[in-house]
Amino acid sequence: MSSRFASLLALALLSSLAACDDSTGIVAADIACPTPQTLTYANYGQAVIAAECLDCHTTKERPFLDTQARVQQNATKIIQEAVYHSAMPEDGSMTNAERIQLGQWLTCGAP
Ligand code: HEC
Repeated sequence: MSSRFASLLALALLSSLAACDDSTGIVAADIACPTPQTLTYANYGQAVIAAECLDCHTTKERPFLDTQARVQQNATKIIQEAVYHSAMPEDGSMTNAERIQLGQWLTCGAP
């Protein structure tokens, strides 16, 4: 392999790695369930999920996130996609503060 080709390959690899790095920098300690915990599906979760996720997660896309039970069942995946990473919401943006609040509510069991 020529060294010119090798460095082109290295560049291509590096840029694809950078494109995949959608980490938010939020870690598990940031989303421990706070005391007291005041957020509920009724006063918080339902509205946030509706505003940020339900364009896509009601009918067509998996997982369905249109009920409290379905959000609870998918809590681990939601934390991965929307709290630790910015993969979701796919078409929008949430601030890290919003992602941490969502993560804390989910860690509490999405009550
Ligand atoms: C614009 C459309 C859109 C919005 C808005 C959106 N999603 Fe998604 N979501 C998708 C699509 C498409 C997939 C399936 C393909 C994929 O994994 O990229 C998906 C997949 C997922 C998955 C499954 C990932 C896996 O590995 O199984 C989770 C969890 C998820 N979304 C959570 C959320 C949450 C939470 C929100 C709101 C904060 C949200 N999404 C908002 C389009 C969207």
